[in-house]
Amino acid sequence: MSFRLQPTPPARPNRCQLFGPGSNTKLFEKMAASAADVINLDLEDSVAPDDKPQARANVIEAIGAVDWGKKTLAVRINSLDSPYWYRDVVDLIEQSDERLDQIMIPKVGCAEDIYAVDALVTAAEAATGRTKKIGFEVIIESAAGIAHVEEIAAASPRLTAMSLGAADFAASMGMQTTGIGGTQDNYYMLHGETRHYSDPWHWAQAAIVAACRTHGLLPVDGPFGDFSDDEGYRAQARRSATLGMVGKWAIHPKQIALANEVFTPSEDAVAEAREILAAMEAAKASGAGATVYKGRLVDIASIKQAEVIVKQAELIAGS
Ligand code: COA
Ligand code: MG
Repeated sequence: MSFRLQPTPPARPNRCQLFGPGSNTKLFEKMAASAADVINLDLEDSVAPDDKPQARANVIEAIGAVDWGKKTLAVRINSLDSPYWYRDVVDLIEQSDERLDQIMIPKVGCAEDIYAVDALVTAAEAATGRTKKIGFEVIIESAAGIAHVEEIAAASPRLTAMSLGAADFAASMGMQTTGIGGTQDNYYMLHGETRHYSDPWHWAQAAIVAACRTHGLLPVDGPFGDFSDDEGYRAQARRSATLGMVGKWAIHPKQIALANEVFTPSEDAVAEAREILAAMEAAKASGAGATVYKGRLVDIASIKQAEVIVKQAELIAGS
């Protein structure tokens, strides 16, 4: 272990991030009333170019006017290769209520992208006298983003979370698929006659988790496009949770319950984790560093594994 301790990410539930276009004002109250932990009002790719100014105004109005409860409230701004992003930032900081928690920056390709937004936000915050510091979350959704993922995760103390954006990522990587997450028909190993489907998103997810855990950010899985496929969503989310991600996006309200279900540790998992902690307490009391639990080895590392599950359950229960 490095002598540098691994930083702790923000202690907030982040099981589901619900998106809605900033141009569709009739969704805002429904989003606020939903069971999602995080709300992402979108100014980027779900808003047509001609609607950008109106969507920006809608979102600024809604930040103060809608009761968002205890949710984390974020706005996805436009990407730095667009002509819209600076106006998104300036208007949000100058005109929106302090209820806004964070800005989501899409299509980040290098640490300097974060630096640029940070400089603008910092100046606008100072000029307007905002007291609450705006957080950042970013989307890794390009070849450059994944190649520079670690420097991006380290780029600003404002960073709280990082998501994988499967659709733009696939396009940027030149992947031959139009699927947004999930199993891809042509990604399989052949064993005899049997096809074993593998996970083409795995490498990018694991790279994001490592960068996030190194720098104290929450790793989040992005969208699953086929919102009629509940089992496909569950399978993708379960893989993400197993890899260390804390939540997943919902692009339709029916995905919220699925995300909350998968990213809330089950009662059985929590009970087993507590039993492992108790077994290790008993082992320690008798001077042993390792013991047997249900026929398998548990040792001091098992304490840390069990604590991940127990702490996540306590965080969610206390929220
Ligand atoms: N948040 C909250 N409520 C939503 C919602 C959302 N994102 N999307 C749909 N709803 C509501 C609808 O208003 C409808 O409510 P009602 O029963 O009161 O009429 C209900 O959920 C069922 O909606 P449905 O008819 O199945 O969907 P739709 O055709 O209205 O919309 C989408 C489908 C995909 C266009 C819409 O869900 C959407 O805009 N999703 C977000 C897209 C986005 O933000 N993308 C950017 C990130 S990838
Ligand atoms: Mg995208």
